[in-house]
This record gives sequence, C-alpha cells and structure tokens, in this order.
Amino acid sequence: MSSIIVPQASLDRANAYGQLLPQVEALLDGEDDAIAAMANVAAALHHAFGHHWTGFYRVMGGELVLGPFQGPVACARIAFGRGVCGAAWKEERTLVVPDVERFPGHIACSPLSRSEIVVPMRGRSGAITAVLDIDSMELNAFGEVDERHLGAMMRLIEPLLA
Ligand code: SME
Repeated sequence: MSSIIVPQASLDRANAYGQLLPQVEALLDGEDDAIAAMANVAAALHHAFGHHWTGFYRVMGGELVLGPFQGPVACARIAFGRGVCGAAWKEERTLVVPDVERFPGHIACSPLSRSEIVVPMRGRSGAITAVLDIDSMELNAFGEVDERHLGAMMRLIEPLLA
C-alpha cells in the first residue's frame, strides 16, 4: 500500500482552519447582516494567517463592488470576467492562482500581491452574489486545503446573501 505524503505546510494550514472554524461560527451566531458577517470573517482570516489582503467583493449593478476587507486600499469596482475576481464570478468556481503575473488580465491592486485565491459565493437566489478574495505576498500560497476550508466557511455566510 502506498502512503500518502501530505506537505507539512498543508497540515499546519488545515489545523489552523480547524481551529478558526468554530471561532467563525461563534462570530456568525445570531448575525443576520451579510456585511457584518463579511467584515468579521475578513478580519478573522486576515489576522489568523497574516495574508496581504483579505476581503469581499459584492455583485452590484452588474459589476463587483468592494466590500468589507482588511489590508491596503483596493480597486473599488471590477467588471464581469475581469481579473481573477471577475473570472471566478464568470466561471462560477474557485480560482487558485499560484503566480498572478501568469494570469492574463490580473488586476494589480497592489504590486506586492504574488498569488491569490478567489471563492465565489452563491446567494439564496442561486446566483453568485459575492466573492471572497485573498492575496498573498508569496508565490503559490494557496492550494486545495484553502479551497476546501474557505469554501466551507463561505457556505456559513451564503444564507445571509440575497
Ligand atoms: N487581484 C484581484 C483584484 C482585487 S485585489 O487584489 C484586492 C483580481 O485580479 O481579481
């Protein structure tokens, strides 16, 4: 039987998500406002992992509009299909970008961002109504562990989205 080798960094990150999830559940307990939920989740994720930028964009009037975030100032509006955020919205799937310079059309809100993950969020209507965007100053900072745990975390906020 072959053994599965899991990189230590992935295990550490999985453990960190495991510890963070109940804290996020507690933060969201009884909260019915999506902005309040997004604001606290952005802060919790940002400070737990020390990301460069952690935040949300909401679908408003046919474009993505900046929502609650932590980190340096960012682009306020992103068109459908543009950048990683717009592409994740259009393709309706999580995008992990190991090197933003190799992603055609990447929007460089900050020159320090090197890799990122964008998780689309579905509202009660069934449509994508927001995305979570996390940027790192390191190349290849995100992977399957992040995709899985962040997806599960976003499912907690989705019932609050229209
Ligand atoms: N990197 C994103 C733009 C948003 S900022 O990085 C906060 C993109 O290409 O979609």
